[in-house]
Amino acid sequence: MELKYIFSCYLYLIIQLVFVTAKYNNNCRILLDELKCFGNIVDFGGNAKYIKQLKLLDMTSNTLDFDFILDKYPNLEYLFIENGEISTISPPKKNNSIKVLVLRNLRIERISQDFVLFFPYLEVLNLEQNLLSELSNEFHTGNLNELYIENNHWNCSKDVKWALHLNTTGVARDLIKTTCKDKLYSKKSVLLIAQFKKDMEKTCTPTCMCSLERIFIDPNSNIQYPIIMVNCSGRNFSDLPGQLPAYTRILHLENNNIDNIKSLTTNPYYGQVWDLYVDNNSIESISYLEGSYWISHFRIFSIRGNKLRELPSYALDNALMKNPNMPSGVTLFLGGNPWKCDCAFTPVFQELVLQKYSIQIRDLEDVKCSYIRGDENSLKPINNLSRSSVCIASTDFSLQEGLDLLNAVLASLIIFILGKLAYDYYHFKKSGKLPWIVSKIP
Ligand SMILES: *[C@@H]1O[C@H](CO)[C@@H](O)[C@H](O)[C@H]1NC(C)=O
Ligand SMILES: *[C@@H]1O[C@H](CO)[C@@H](O)[C@H](O)[C@H]1NC(C)=O
Ligand SMILES: *[C@@H]1O[C@H](CO)[C@@H](O)[C@H](O)[C@H]1NC(C)=O
Ligand SMILES: *[C@@H]1O[C@H](CO)[C@@H](O)[C@H](O)[C@H]1NC(C)=O
Ligand SMILES: *[C@@H]1O[C@H](CO)[C@@H](O)[C@H](O)[C@H]1NC(C)=O
Ligand SMILES: *[C@@H]1O[C@H](CO)[C@@H](O)[C@H](O)[C@H]1NC(C)=O
Ligand SMILES: *[C@@H]1O[C@H](CO)[C@@H](O)[C@H](O)[C@H]1NC(C)=O
Repeated sequence: MELKYIFSCYLYLIIQLVFVTAKYNNNCRILLDELKCFGNIVDFGGNAKYIKQLKLLDMTSNTLDFDFILDKYPNLEYLFIENGEISTISPPKKNNSIKVLVLRNLRIERISQDFVLFFPYLEVLNLEQNLLSELSNEFHTGNLNELYIENNHWNCSKDVKWALHLNTTGVARDLIKTTCKDKLYSKKSVLLIAQFKKDMEKTCTPTCMCSLERIFIDPNSNIQYPIIMVNCSGRNFSDLPGQLPAYTRILHLENNNIDNIKSLTTNPYYGQVWDLYVDNNSIESISYLEGSYWISHFRIFSIRGNKLRELPSYALDNALMKNPNMPSGVTLFLGGNPWKCDCAFTPVFQELVLQKYSIQIRDLEDVKCSYIRGDENSLKPINNLSRSSVCIASTDFSLQEGLDLLNAVLASLIIFILGKLAYDYYHFKKSGKLPWIVSKIP
């Protein structure tokens, strides 16, 4: 009995000695079943089966070896590793009883999709303040009740389906507050971006590429809207696509075979399109856009390299004056079309479009007269054409000149008639004869 008592006293002393040494060497403190150390993992030499909680703070090593820790403390239930340089973690091979695992404020960049499955009793996993940029879509949450992932470097330019997957499990308690860290979606909710991308992909125009360009926050309502770009360039479209994802604001249709864009006025999907690129198609006219909602609300309209010969200048001027995005939000590209250069179209086009909107038309010097062999205006920039070079008197008889001529004819007729009257009156007085024309009237 006495011997047993003395023996356990000795044992107690030895254990205390080990911890005192640990404390001196590694800056550890012990409190009941909790061991808290600053710096790297301590090697106690003996085992410490009764330690249930281990806190390792300010570790300077880059890798974390769970098996090494579990060797020393096989009965750990709470493992806190915070504020350190650890960047790589690989799951333990050993069975363990860890229930709460906190890996906070470290430099972890990656976590494998079945990490949690290596901890059969794990209930809480905290990964806050690391450098994680993505998760697997099949990240297993095992028996977790709580998962914390805030303040990582979540890159929402990558696939973020994992966020929707985590949302269905309901374990990620801070998912709603978790934000993206990449430049494009900085500070936006990961879950929101994931939802926007999913909706977009579901409704993306067949054969085209859809992308979420950025998020627009309505300043009045504070509601966030996606800004979606649909790229249907060079895909043999002969008409505007019939269907677009909701919130399509930018539509690329360059290098197709489109010959008209009437759908802009009839298809409700196009009311939401701000920027339209239809360069290098076969569009011959846009006169049907006159009075449409789209032409007075667009931001970018690029129709270079088509077959436009003229456009309704008054209507375009009217629409641009009404456009709420004017002046700085509106951009037009009209170059590379075979513009007609004649007196009926060109002067009005110059004045009401090219000159009035020279800031909005970014390729003014490419807006040229069509090629006509031997014509002096052929391929000249229209902006610089003089009026006389398009309105040559002999070939173009203007209304003003016509009116002037008519006036002159009428004036000389009046003078002739008055003269004849004076002559007839004088002749009648003198000879008593009525003028010949009066004698013929019955
Ligand atoms: C892990 O240990 C627990 C008991 O502590 C046991 O029930 C479980 O089956 C073990 N799992 C494996 C994979 O060995
Ligand atoms: C996330 O989950 C909640 C609760 O199940 C649900 O109401 C919400 O619609 C989900 N959000 C998204 C973006 O899926
Ligand atoms: C995010 O991911 C995109 C696409 O993979 C990549 O181009 C970009 O560099 C990443 N951004 C950051 C900040 O890592
Ligand atoms: C659209 O896609 C084509 C290839 O299909 C590509 O060459 C072009 O750069 C894309 N445009 C934009 C604005 O991303
Ligand atoms: C477009 O159609 C032409 C002929 O109709 C074909 O030669 C070409 O390969 C098609 N291009 C694409 C991108 O499908
Ligand atoms: C249109 O076609 C011209 C000539 O083929 C080419 O140089 C230009 O890059 C094309 N424009 C676009 C937007 O693809
Ligand atoms: C064409 O017009 C622009 C401004 O409208 C002017 O700056 C430029 O010098 C003119 N070029 C020629 C060759 O007249």
